[in-house]
Amino acid sequence: MAESFTVLIMAAGHGTRMHSHLPKVLHGVCGKPMVEWVADAARDAGAERVLCVVRPGEGVADRLPDGIEPVEQHEGEGTAAAVLAARGSIDGGALVILSGDHPLVTAEQIAGLRAARHADGAVATLLTTDQLDPSGYGRIVRDADGRFVEIVETKRTDGLAAAVLAIREVNLGSYAFDSAELFSALDEVGLTDGELYLTGALPVLVGRGQLVTTHPTDDPAVALGVNDRAGLMAVEERAQRRILEAHARAGVTFQQPQTARVEARVTIGADTTIGPGVSLLGATRVAEGCEIGPHTTLQDASVGAGATVRQAYVVEAEIGPQAMIGPFSYVRPGTVVGEGAKVGAFVEVKNSQIGAGAKVPHLSYIGDTDVGDKANLGASTITANYDGRRKHRTKIGKSAKTGVHTSLVAPVDVGDRSYTGAGSVITDDIPEGALGIARERQKNVEGYADRVEEDPQ
Ligand code: UD1
Ligand code: CA
Repeated sequence: MAESFTVLIMAAGHGTRMHSHLPKVLHGVCGKPMVEWVADAARDAGAERVLCVVRPGEGVADRLPDGIEPVEQHEGEGTAAAVLAARGSIDGGALVILSGDHPLVTAEQIAGLRAARHADGAVATLLTTDQLDPSGYGRIVRDADGRFVEIVETKRTDGLAAAVLAIREVNLGSYAFDSAELFSALDEVGLTDGELYLTGALPVLVGRGQLVTTHPTDDPAVALGVNDRAGLMAVEERAQRRILEAHARAGVTFQQPQTARVEARVTIGADTTIGPGVSLLGATRVAEGCEIGPHTTLQDASVGAGATVRQAYVVEAEIGPQAMIGPFSYVRPGTVVGEGAKVGAFVEVKNSQIGAGAKVPHLSYIGDTDVGDKANLGASTITANYDGRRKHRTKIGKSAKTGVHTSLVAPVDVGDRSYTGAGSVITDDIPEGALGIARERQKNVEGYADRVEEDPQ
Protein backbone atom coordinates (compact mmCIF):
# COMPACT_ATOMS: atom_id res chain seq x y z
CA MET A 1 0.00 0.00 0.00
CA ALA A 2 1.32 3.46 -0.92
CA GLU A 3 2.12 5.83 1.96
CA SER A 4 -0.03 8.94 2.23
CA PHE A 5 1.52 12.15 0.98
CA THR A 6 0.94 15.89 0.81
CA VAL A 7 1.37 18.01 -2.32
CA LEU A 8 2.61 21.59 -2.12
CA ILE A 9 2.15 23.75 -5.22
CA MET A 10 4.39 26.82 -5.47
CA ALA A 11 2.27 29.51 -7.09
CA ALA A 12 3.35 32.82 -5.58
CA GLY A 13 5.84 34.02 -8.17
CA HIS A 14 5.16 37.35 -9.86
CA GLY A 15 6.00 36.11 -13.34
CA THR A 16 7.30 39.51 -14.47
CA ARG A 17 8.29 38.15 -17.87
CA MET A 18 4.59 37.59 -18.66
CA HIS A 19 4.19 41.42 -18.83
CA SER A 20 0.73 41.11 -17.33
CA HIS A 21 -1.49 42.46 -14.58
CA LEU A 22 -2.66 38.88 -14.03
CA PRO A 23 -0.46 36.66 -11.82
CA LYS A 24 1.33 34.08 -13.96
CA VAL A 25 -0.38 30.99 -12.58
CA LEU A 26 -3.83 32.46 -13.36
CA HIS A 27 -3.12 32.63 -17.07
CA GLY A 28 -5.38 30.15 -18.81
CA VAL A 29 -4.28 27.03 -20.62
CA CYS A 30 -7.20 25.89 -22.77
CA GLY A 31 -9.48 28.07 -20.67
CA LYS A 32 -8.37 26.71 -17.27
CA PRO A 33 -5.91 28.62 -15.05
CA MET A 34 -2.47 26.99 -14.96
CA VAL A 35 -2.61 26.45 -11.22
CA GLU A 36 -5.88 24.54 -11.57
CA TRP A 37 -4.25 22.08 -13.98
CA VAL A 38 -1.57 21.37 -11.39
CA ALA A 39 -4.12 21.11 -8.55
CA ASP A 40 -6.24 18.66 -10.56
CA ALA A 41 -3.19 16.49 -11.30
CA ALA A 42 -2.24 16.52 -7.60
CA ARG A 43 -5.71 15.43 -6.56
CA ASP A 44 -5.89 12.76 -9.28
CA ALA A 45 -2.57 11.39 -8.02
CA GLY A 46 -4.28 10.67 -4.69
CA ALA A 47 -2.67 13.32 -2.49
CA GLU A 48 -4.09 13.34 1.02
CA ARG A 49 -3.78 17.13 1.20
CA VAL A 50 -2.99 19.69 -1.49
CA LEU A 51 -1.58 23.03 -0.33
CA CYS A 52 -0.93 25.95 -2.63
CA VAL A 53 1.45 28.79 -1.81
CA VAL A 54 0.00 32.13 -2.92
CA ARG A 55 0.96 35.76 -2.55
CA PRO A 56 -1.60 37.66 -0.40
CA GLY A 57 -3.97 39.82 -2.42
CA GLU A 58 -3.07 38.40 -5.84
CA GLY A 59 -6.42 36.63 -6.19
CA VAL A 60 -4.92 33.19 -6.74
CA ALA A 61 -6.49 31.74 -3.56
CA ASP A 62 -9.98 32.58 -4.87
CA ARG A 63 -9.36 30.59 -8.02
CA LEU A 64 -8.27 27.35 -6.35
CA PRO A 65 -10.55 24.34 -6.79
CA ASP A 66 -12.50 23.16 -3.73
CA GLY A 67 -10.39 21.32 -1.19
CA ILE A 68 -7.08 22.97 -2.11
CA GLU A 69 -5.67 24.79 0.95
CA PRO A 70 -4.10 28.18 0.26
CA VAL A 71 -0.96 29.12 2.21
CA GLU A 72 0.18 32.75 2.10
CA GLN A 73 3.81 33.62 1.36
CA HIS A 74 4.19 36.87 3.30
CA GLU A 75 7.94 37.21 3.16
CA GLY A 76 11.00 36.38 1.12
CA GLU A 77 11.51 35.75 -2.55
CA GLY A 78 12.24 32.50 -4.30
CA THR A 79 11.09 28.90 -4.30
CA ALA A 80 12.55 28.12 -0.87
CA ALA A 81 10.68 31.12 0.57
CA ALA A 82 7.53 29.61 -0.94
CA VAL A 83 8.13 26.23 0.70
CA LEU A 84 9.07 27.78 4.04
CA ALA A 85 5.74 29.65 4.05
CA ALA A 86 4.06 26.23 4.34
CA ARG A 87 6.33 24.90 7.07
CA GLY A 88 3.76 25.37 9.86
CA SER A 89 1.04 23.65 7.82
CA ILE A 90 2.96 20.42 7.23
CA ASP A 91 3.63 17.93 10.01
CA GLY A 92 6.08 15.45 8.60
CA GLY A 93 5.75 12.65 6.09
CA ALA A 94 6.17 12.49 2.35
CA LEU A 95 5.92 15.80 0.52
CA VAL A 96 5.64 16.29 -3.23
CA ILE A 97 6.45 19.82 -4.38
CA LEU A 98 5.15 21.02 -7.74
CA SER A 99 5.55 24.28 -9.63
CA GLY A 100 2.40 26.19 -10.51
CA ASP A 101 4.00 27.14 -13.83
CA HIS A 102 4.33 23.54 -15.09
CA PRO A 103 0.63 23.03 -15.82
CA LEU A 104 0.92 19.80 -17.81
CA VAL A 105 2.39 17.68 -15.05
CA THR A 106 0.27 14.52 -14.86
CA ALA A 107 -1.02 12.38 -12.02
CA GLU A 108 1.09 9.53 -13.43
CA GLN A 109 4.26 11.65 -13.25
CA ILE A 110 3.50 12.58 -9.65
CA ALA A 111 2.88 8.95 -8.75
CA GLY A 112 6.05 7.94 -10.64
CA LEU A 113 8.12 10.50 -8.76
CA ARG A 114 6.89 9.28 -5.36
CA ALA A 115 7.45 5.66 -6.32
CA ALA A 116 10.99 6.47 -7.52
CA ARG A 117 11.94 8.12 -4.20
CA HIS A 118 10.55 5.15 -2.35
CA ALA A 119 12.36 2.62 -4.56
CA ASP A 120 15.64 4.59 -4.35
CA GLY A 121 15.37 4.94 -0.58
CA ALA A 122 16.18 8.64 -1.14
CA VAL A 123 15.35 11.71 0.99
CA ALA A 124 14.78 13.68 -2.19
CA THR A 125 14.04 12.75 -5.81
CA LEU A 126 13.57 15.30 -8.55
CA LEU A 127 11.96 15.12 -11.95
CA THR A 128 14.39 15.87 -14.78
CA THR A 129 14.55 15.72 -18.55
CA ASP A 130 17.11 16.10 -21.32
CA GLN A 131 14.41 16.46 -23.99
CA LEU A 132 13.93 20.24 -23.75
CA ASP A 133 15.88 23.28 -24.87
CA PRO A 134 17.70 23.67 -21.52
CA SER A 135 18.04 27.48 -21.71
CA GLY A 136 17.02 29.19 -18.48
CA TYR A 137 16.38 25.98 -16.55
CA GLY A 138 18.42 24.71 -13.60
CA ARG A 139 21.05 22.22 -14.87
CA ILE A 140 21.72 18.94 -13.11
CA VAL A 141 25.40 18.69 -12.13
CA ARG A 142 26.72 15.17 -11.39
CA ASP A 143 30.01 13.81 -10.06
CA ALA A 144 32.39 11.51 -11.93
CA ASP A 145 30.30 8.51 -10.84
CA GLY A 146 27.10 10.10 -12.14
CA ARG A 147 25.72 10.89 -8.69
CA PHE A 148 23.66 14.04 -8.21
CA VAL A 149 25.70 16.94 -6.83
CA GLU A 150 23.76 20.19 -7.28
CA ILE A 151 21.57 22.33 -9.53
CA VAL A 152 23.06 25.37 -11.24
CA GLU A 153 20.55 28.02 -12.32
CA THR A 154 21.04 29.39 -15.86
CA LYS A 155 18.52 32.22 -16.08
CA ARG A 156 21.64 34.40 -16.14
CA THR A 157 24.58 32.81 -17.90
CA ASP A 158 27.37 35.32 -17.16
CA GLY A 159 30.17 33.73 -15.21
CA LEU A 160 28.93 30.17 -15.75
CA ALA A 161 31.37 27.48 -16.88
CA ALA A 162 30.96 26.20 -20.46
CA ALA A 163 30.82 22.67 -19.03
CA VAL A 164 27.70 23.62 -17.02
CA LEU A 165 26.01 25.29 -19.99
CA ALA A 166 26.68 22.14 -22.03
CA ILE A 167 24.56 20.05 -19.62
CA ARG A 168 21.24 19.15 -21.20
CA GLU A 169 19.58 17.54 -18.20
CA VAL A 170 17.38 20.08 -16.40
CA ASN A 171 15.33 20.34 -13.22
CA LEU A 172 11.58 20.45 -13.93
CA GLY A 173 10.58 21.90 -10.56
CA SER A 174 8.77 18.75 -9.35
CA TYR A 175 10.22 17.01 -6.30
CA ALA A 176 9.44 14.24 -3.82
CA PHE A 177 10.89 14.87 -0.36
CA ASP A 178 10.98 13.57 3.15
CA SER A 179 9.51 16.81 4.56
CA ALA A 180 11.40 16.82 7.88
CA GLU A 181 14.77 16.40 6.11
CA LEU A 182 13.84 19.12 3.61
CA PHE A 183 12.89 21.73 6.21
CA SER A 184 16.00 20.97 8.22
CA ALA A 185 18.19 21.48 5.10
CA LEU A 186 16.37 24.69 4.14
CA ASP A 187 17.57 26.24 7.41
CA GLU A 188 21.07 26.20 5.93
CA VAL A 189 20.22 27.76 2.57
CA GLY A 190 21.41 31.32 2.08
CA LEU A 191 20.35 34.07 -0.31
CA THR A 192 21.33 34.05 -4.01
CA ASP A 193 20.65 37.35 -5.78
CA GLY A 194 18.17 38.23 -3.02
CA GLU A 195 16.27 34.95 -3.39
CA LEU A 196 16.08 31.72 -1.42
CA TYR A 197 16.36 28.78 -3.80
CA LEU A 198 14.62 25.50 -3.00
CA THR A 199 17.28 23.84 -5.13
CA GLY A 200 19.84 25.07 -2.58
CA ALA A 201 18.53 22.43 -0.13
CA LEU A 202 19.72 19.59 -2.36
CA PRO A 203 23.52 20.02 -1.99
CA VAL A 204 22.94 20.49 1.76
CA LEU A 205 21.32 17.05 1.87
CA VAL A 206 24.09 15.54 -0.28
CA GLY A 207 26.70 17.12 2.03
CA ARG A 208 25.01 15.41 4.98
CA GLY A 209 25.56 12.08 3.25
CA GLN A 210 21.89 11.67 2.34
CA LEU A 211 20.70 10.24 -0.93
CA VAL A 212 19.29 12.58 -3.60
CA THR A 213 18.21 10.93 -6.84
CA THR A 214 16.68 11.96 -10.14
CA HIS A 215 13.66 10.61 -11.98
CA PRO A 216 13.88 11.34 -15.71
CA THR A 217 10.87 11.84 -17.97
CA ASP A 218 10.95 11.95 -21.75
CA ASP A 219 7.47 13.47 -22.03
CA PRO A 220 8.23 17.04 -23.13
CA ALA A 221 4.65 18.16 -22.46
CA VAL A 222 4.99 17.30 -18.79
CA ALA A 223 8.32 19.10 -18.81
CA LEU A 224 7.30 22.43 -20.31
CA GLY A 225 7.40 25.35 -17.90
CA VAL A 226 5.86 28.77 -18.49
CA ASN A 227 8.02 31.79 -17.84
CA ASP A 228 6.75 34.06 -20.63
CA ARG A 229 3.94 34.01 -23.17
CA ALA A 230 6.00 32.14 -25.73
CA GLY A 231 6.22 29.35 -23.16
CA LEU A 232 2.49 29.68 -22.54
CA MET A 233 1.86 29.21 -26.26
CA ALA A 234 3.95 26.04 -26.35
CA VAL A 235 2.04 24.64 -23.36
CA GLU A 236 -1.30 25.65 -24.86
CA GLU A 237 -0.55 23.66 -28.04
CA ARG A 238 0.37 20.55 -26.09
CA ALA A 239 -2.62 20.89 -23.78
CA GLN A 240 -5.01 21.33 -26.70
CA ARG A 241 -3.63 18.24 -28.38
CA ARG A 242 -4.02 16.29 -25.14
CA ILE A 243 -7.68 17.39 -24.80
CA LEU A 244 -8.54 16.61 -28.43
CA GLU A 245 -6.92 13.19 -28.22
CA ALA A 246 -8.91 12.32 -25.09
CA HIS A 247 -12.17 13.28 -26.84
CA ALA A 248 -11.14 11.43 -30.01
CA ARG A 249 -10.45 8.27 -28.00
CA ALA A 250 -13.93 8.62 -26.49
CA GLY A 251 -15.60 8.71 -29.93
CA VAL A 252 -15.49 12.30 -31.18
CA THR A 253 -14.40 13.05 -34.78
CA PHE A 254 -12.34 16.18 -35.45
CA GLN A 255 -12.27 16.94 -39.15
CA GLN A 256 -9.50 19.51 -38.81
CA PRO A 257 -7.94 19.21 -35.35
CA GLN A 258 -5.43 21.98 -35.96
CA THR A 259 -8.26 24.56 -36.14
CA ALA A 260 -10.43 23.20 -33.31
CA ARG A 261 -10.32 24.83 -29.90
CA VAL A 262 -11.85 22.77 -27.12
CA GLU A 263 -11.38 24.13 -23.62
CA ALA A 264 -10.58 21.98 -20.64
CA ARG A 265 -14.05 21.77 -19.04
CA VAL A 266 -16.00 21.00 -22.22
CA THR A 267 -17.81 17.66 -22.57
CA ILE A 268 -18.65 16.05 -25.94
CA GLY A 269 -20.70 12.93 -26.58
CA ALA A 270 -19.66 10.03 -28.78
CA ASP A 271 -20.35 10.11 -32.53
CA THR A 272 -20.30 13.90 -32.57
CA THR A 273 -18.37 15.47 -35.45
CA ILE A 274 -16.47 18.71 -34.92
CA GLY A 275 -15.74 20.56 -38.16
CA PRO A 276 -13.03 23.08 -39.07
CA GLY A 277 -12.79 26.32 -37.12
CA VAL A 278 -14.90 25.27 -34.15
CA SER A 279 -14.37 26.74 -30.65
CA LEU A 280 -16.04 24.98 -27.73
CA LEU A 281 -15.50 27.22 -24.73
CA GLY A 282 -16.11 27.39 -21.00
CA ALA A 283 -18.60 24.90 -19.59
CA THR A 284 -20.04 23.94 -22.98
CA ARG A 285 -21.67 20.52 -23.16
CA VAL A 286 -22.35 18.80 -26.46
CA ALA A 287 -24.36 15.57 -26.43
CA GLU A 288 -23.86 12.56 -28.68
CA GLY A 289 -24.41 12.41 -32.43
CA CYS A 290 -24.20 16.16 -33.07
CA GLU A 291 -22.64 17.98 -36.00
CA ILE A 292 -20.87 21.13 -34.91
CA GLY A 293 -19.28 23.44 -37.46
CA PRO A 294 -17.72 24.44 -39.62
CA HIS A 295 -16.79 27.82 -38.08
CA THR A 296 -18.90 27.75 -34.96
CA THR A 297 -18.32 29.09 -31.44
CA LEU A 298 -20.18 27.67 -28.45
CA GLN A 299 -19.55 29.53 -25.19
CA ASP A 300 -21.06 28.02 -22.01
CA ALA A 301 -23.74 26.45 -24.19
CA SER A 302 -25.44 23.08 -24.11
CA VAL A 303 -26.40 21.13 -27.21
CA GLY A 304 -28.77 18.15 -27.17
CA ALA A 305 -28.28 14.85 -28.94
CA GLY A 306 -28.38 14.84 -32.73
CA ALA A 307 -28.42 18.62 -33.12
CA THR A 308 -26.68 20.44 -35.97
CA VAL A 309 -24.96 23.79 -35.40
CA ARG A 310 -23.28 25.36 -38.44
CA GLN A 311 -21.50 28.72 -38.80
CA ALA A 312 -23.07 29.92 -35.58
CA TYR A 313 -22.18 31.88 -32.45
CA VAL A 314 -23.98 30.54 -29.40
CA VAL A 315 -23.51 32.03 -25.93
CA GLU A 316 -25.07 30.75 -22.66
CA ALA A 317 -27.94 29.12 -24.49
CA GLU A 318 -29.50 25.68 -24.62
CA ILE A 319 -30.02 23.94 -27.95
CA GLY A 320 -32.47 21.03 -27.85
CA PRO A 321 -31.99 17.58 -29.33
CA GLN A 322 -32.27 17.37 -33.14
CA ALA A 323 -32.41 21.16 -33.42
CA MET A 324 -30.84 22.86 -36.43
CA ILE A 325 -28.91 26.08 -35.94
CA GLY A 326 -27.35 28.07 -38.76
CA PRO A 327 -25.75 28.75 -41.04
CA PHE A 328 -25.00 32.28 -39.78
CA SER A 329 -27.03 32.42 -36.57
CA TYR A 330 -26.38 34.31 -33.34
CA VAL A 331 -27.97 32.69 -30.30
CA ARG A 332 -27.60 34.80 -27.19
CA PRO A 333 -27.87 34.25 -23.42
CA GLY A 334 -31.09 32.94 -21.96
CA THR A 335 -32.27 31.27 -25.15
CA VAL A 336 -33.71 27.76 -25.11
CA VAL A 337 -34.25 26.18 -28.51
CA GLY A 338 -36.66 23.24 -28.32
CA GLU A 339 -36.36 19.77 -29.73
CA GLY A 340 -36.25 19.70 -33.53
CA ALA A 341 -36.59 23.49 -33.79
CA LYS A 342 -34.77 25.53 -36.42
CA VAL A 343 -32.91 28.84 -36.16
CA GLY A 344 -31.71 29.69 -39.64
CA ALA A 345 -29.66 32.10 -41.68
CA PHE A 346 -29.03 35.62 -40.33
CA VAL A 347 -31.24 35.06 -37.32
CA GLU A 348 -30.44 36.51 -33.90
CA VAL A 349 -32.26 35.15 -30.86
CA LYS A 350 -31.95 36.57 -27.33
CA ASN A 351 -33.51 35.45 -24.04
CA SER A 352 -36.27 33.56 -25.81
CA GLN A 353 -37.90 30.15 -25.86
CA ILE A 354 -38.22 28.60 -29.29
CA GLY A 355 -40.77 25.78 -28.95
CA ALA A 356 -40.30 22.23 -30.14
CA GLY A 357 -40.47 21.98 -33.91
CA ALA A 358 -40.79 25.76 -34.34
CA LYS A 359 -38.97 27.45 -37.20
CA VAL A 360 -37.26 30.83 -37.43
CA PRO A 361 -35.62 30.23 -40.78
CA HIS A 362 -34.49 33.59 -42.23
CA LEU A 363 -33.36 37.12 -41.34
CA SER A 364 -35.08 37.57 -37.96
CA TYR A 365 -34.43 39.20 -34.61
CA ILE A 366 -36.31 37.44 -31.83
CA GLY A 367 -35.79 38.95 -28.37
CA ASP A 368 -37.58 38.32 -25.05
CA THR A 369 -40.08 36.07 -26.80
CA ASP A 370 -41.87 32.79 -26.18
CA VAL A 371 -42.41 31.04 -29.49
CA GLY A 372 -44.91 28.16 -29.26
CA ASP A 373 -44.33 24.64 -30.52
CA LYS A 374 -44.45 24.29 -34.32
CA ALA A 375 -44.83 28.03 -34.94
CA ASN A 376 -43.34 29.23 -38.22
CA LEU A 377 -41.99 32.75 -38.47
CA GLY A 378 -41.86 34.26 -41.96
CA ALA A 379 -38.63 35.71 -43.29
CA SER A 380 -37.63 38.91 -41.53
CA THR A 381 -40.10 38.63 -38.67
CA ILE A 382 -38.74 41.03 -36.07
CA THR A 383 -39.71 41.59 -32.46
CA ALA A 384 -39.59 45.21 -31.32
CA ASN A 385 -38.85 44.31 -27.72
CA TYR A 386 -37.39 47.64 -26.61
CA ASP A 387 -39.37 50.88 -26.52
CA GLY A 388 -36.32 52.98 -25.85
CA ARG A 389 -36.63 52.63 -22.08
CA ARG A 390 -37.81 49.16 -21.22
CA LYS A 391 -37.85 45.67 -22.69
CA HIS A 392 -41.15 43.83 -23.11
CA ARG A 393 -42.03 40.23 -23.92
CA THR A 394 -43.72 38.87 -26.99
CA LYS A 395 -45.73 35.67 -27.06
CA ILE A 396 -46.25 33.74 -30.27
CA GLY A 397 -48.70 30.86 -29.91
CA LYS A 398 -48.42 27.25 -30.95
CA SER A 399 -48.49 26.65 -34.73
CA ALA A 400 -48.85 30.40 -35.40
CA LYS A 401 -47.54 31.60 -38.78
CA THR A 402 -46.23 35.09 -39.33
CA GLY A 403 -45.99 36.61 -42.81
CA VAL A 404 -42.69 37.96 -44.11
CA HIS A 405 -41.63 41.33 -42.71
CA THR A 406 -43.89 41.14 -39.67
CA SER A 407 -42.96 43.53 -36.88
CA LEU A 408 -44.23 42.46 -33.47
CA VAL A 409 -44.29 45.46 -31.15
CA ALA A 410 -44.01 44.15 -27.60
CA PRO A 411 -45.76 43.58 -25.33
CA VAL A 412 -47.99 41.65 -27.70
CA ASP A 413 -49.61 38.22 -27.80
CA VAL A 414 -50.04 36.37 -31.08
CA GLY A 415 -52.57 33.58 -30.45
CA ASP A 416 -52.22 29.87 -31.13
CA ARG A 417 -52.80 28.93 -34.82
CA SER A 418 -53.07 32.61 -35.78
CA TYR A 419 -51.56 34.34 -38.85
CA THR A 420 -50.15 37.74 -39.64
CA GLY A 421 -50.23 39.41 -43.04
CA ALA A 422 -46.92 40.09 -44.76
CA GLY A 423 -45.47 43.48 -43.87
CA SER A 424 -47.70 43.95 -40.81
CA VAL A 425 -46.76 46.01 -37.80
CA ILE A 426 -48.60 44.14 -35.06
CA THR A 427 -49.30 46.28 -31.97
CA ASP A 428 -52.44 44.56 -30.67
CA ASP A 429 -52.96 40.97 -29.54
CA ILE A 430 -54.24 38.52 -32.17
CA PRO A 431 -56.85 36.01 -30.92
CA GLU A 432 -56.44 32.28 -31.45
CA GLY A 433 -56.88 31.24 -35.08
CA ALA A 434 -57.30 34.83 -36.40
CA LEU A 435 -55.41 36.70 -39.13
CA GLY A 436 -53.88 39.99 -38.06
CA ILE A 437 -53.15 42.47 -40.85
CA ALA A 438 -51.77 45.91 -40.07
CA ARG A 439 -50.62 47.79 -43.17
CA GLU A 440 -51.91 50.24 -45.81
CA ARG A 441 -54.13 48.75 -48.50
CA GLN A 442 -52.51 48.83 -51.93
CA LYS A 443 -53.61 51.56 -54.35
CA ASN A 444 -52.72 51.38 -58.09
CA VAL A 445 -52.25 54.66 -60.00
CA GLU A 446 -53.31 53.90 -63.62
CA GLY A 447 -51.21 55.34 -66.51
CA TYR A 448 -48.46 56.48 -64.19
CA ALA A 449 -45.57 55.51 -66.52
CA ASP A 450 -47.07 57.36 -69.50
CA ARG A 451 -47.43 60.52 -67.44
CA VAL A 452 -43.83 60.38 -66.28
CA GLU A 453 -42.46 59.80 -69.79
CA GLU A 454 -44.48 62.72 -71.28
CA ASP A 455 -43.18 65.19 -68.68
CA PRO A 456 -40.97 67.71 -70.68
CA GLN A 457 -38.54 67.99 -67.75
C1 UD1 B 1 12.85 26.92 -11.02
C2 UD1 B 1 14.03 26.13 -10.51
C3 UD1 B 1 14.84 25.63 -11.71
C4 UD1 B 1 13.97 24.79 -12.61
C5 UD1 B 1 12.72 25.58 -13.03
C6 UD1 B 1 11.76 24.69 -13.74
C7 UD1 B 1 14.64 27.20 -8.41
C8 UD1 B 1 15.60 28.09 -7.74
N1 UD1 B 1 14.86 26.97 -9.70
O1 UD1 B 1 13.34 28.07 -11.68
O2 UD1 B 1 15.94 24.84 -11.27
O3 UD1 B 1 14.69 24.41 -13.78
O4 UD1 B 1 12.04 26.11 -11.86
O5 UD1 B 1 10.72 25.47 -14.30
O6 UD1 B 1 13.70 26.72 -7.81
N2 UD1 B 1 7.30 30.81 -6.69
C9 UD1 B 1 6.71 31.07 -5.47
N3 UD1 B 1 7.27 32.01 -4.66
C10 UD1 B 1 8.40 32.68 -5.00
C11 UD1 B 1 9.01 32.40 -6.23
C12 UD1 B 1 8.45 31.44 -7.06
O7 UD1 B 1 5.67 30.48 -5.15
O8 UD1 B 1 8.84 33.53 -4.20
C13 UD1 B 1 6.69 29.82 -7.60
C14 UD1 B 1 6.36 30.42 -8.96
O9 UD1 B 1 5.01 30.90 -8.99
C15 UD1 B 1 6.53 29.27 -9.91
C16 UD1 B 1 7.50 28.36 -9.21
O10 UD1 B 1 7.57 28.80 -7.86
O11 UD1 B 1 5.30 28.60 -10.13
C17 UD1 B 1 8.88 28.42 -9.85
O12 UD1 B 1 9.37 29.75 -9.74
P1 UD1 B 1 10.18 30.44 -10.91
O13 UD1 B 1 10.58 31.79 -10.45
O14 UD1 B 1 9.43 30.35 -12.17
O15 UD1 B 1 11.48 29.52 -10.96
P2 UD1 B 1 12.46 29.30 -12.17
O16 UD1 B 1 13.37 30.47 -12.25
O17 UD1 B 1 11.72 28.95 -13.37
CA1 CA C 1 9.59 28.87 -13.85
